[in-house]
Amino acid sequence: MKIAIIGGTGLLGSNLVKLYSNYDVKSFSRVHLNNVSRIKNNVINFDDLSNELSEFFDAWKPHIIINTVAIVSLQKCEENYDMANNINCNIASKISKISKKYNSYFIHISTDHYYDDQLITHTELQRVTIKNNYAQTKYNAEKEIKKNNKKAIIVRTNIIGFRRGLSESFFEWLLSSLRNQNTINLYTNFYTSPISVNHLGKMLIKCYKKKLYGTYNIASSEVIDKFSFGIKVANKFGYSAENVTSIELKKSSSDNPLRALTLGLDVSKIESALQEKMPTIEKTIENLYCEYVDVNE
Ligand SMILES: NC(=O)c1ccc[n+]([C@@H]2O[C@H](COP(=O)([O-])OP(=O)(O)OC[C@H]3O[C@@H](n4cnc5c(N)ncnc54)[C@H](OP(=O)(O)O)[C@@H]3O)[C@@H](O)[C@H]2O)c1
Repeated sequence: MKIAIIGGTGLLGSNLVKLYSNYDVKSFSRVHLNNVSRIKNNVINFDDLSNELSEFFDAWKPHIIINTVAIVSLQKCEENYDMANNINCNIASKISKISKKYNSYFIHISTDHYYDDQLITHTELQRVTIKNNYAQTKYNAEKEIKKNNKKAIIVRTNIIGFRRGLSESFFEWLLSSLRNQNTINLYTNFYTSPISVNHLGKMLIKCYKKKLYGTYNIASSEVIDKFSFGIKVANKFGYSAENVTSIELKKSSSDNPLRALTLGLDVSKIESALQEKMPTIEKTIENLYCEYVDVNE
């Protein structure tokens, strides 16, 4: 099976390239980074995406194309809407058309950053609330992809894992803070359904095999606030949680005026389509622990 990962240097992309190493996998990124093998990664010019990818796809014809490219920093998206829309929406839209041209199964990674309504979980049909440019540009992408390519799956998710790149992922920051006994603040009123990047990667292959199209939530089956998550991680990894402080994220505070807070995802649609239960929070932390032990011991 031939799989193209667009954005192979990112948290999700770099892990998918490794996870799919038994397949014929190629990564396409704007640079080489140490977290993705140079043999697998191809540096391309994203301003000329169609021509750049055609050079590979005309002969190679991937079965699956996965778009993981995004500007995930809320701040950067707020600073420059056009730049955010170009990366989060226009690139996704172009890749959805390219996927159609090559008859490839298109997987677009979207977001859970659509809800701020105090509900615990949200189905794919729940009304979306756009709080910021990140959410707006990710939602723009969903609409474009639906217009361009009916053979696409749009995956709403919350991912967690090891980036092993230039910047730390949230989980890497959490672990290093716990290990070093740094004082950290974690929010009690910011709720997500995190799934490990590798568990998500396995689910994506199952979606391809079942030829699932449309919008699907693929996430943990449970919802947790960031503080409780931090405490569970500390317990699992054997670190003291005495320097972990619970705080409330104030909606009115100037540094976080535009964040959606209740991002929990309802996973019943994907569970029913795949006839498989999504992981609990405990299972997600167990998966991350096993990955950590594999790499570090
Ligand atoms: N992280 C989360 O908590 C989270 C939660 C929900 C959904 N998601 C979604 O999951 C997907 C993957 O996220 P992630 O955390 O893996 O993101 P990430 O680590 O920031 O990786 C994003 C990828 O996009 C690339 N990229 C950024 N700007 C680019 C540009 N101007 N031109 C070309 N490539 C560019 C990055 O390349 P460089 O390495 O060169 O910067 C990297 O390969 C995204 O669609 C995101 O919206 C993430």
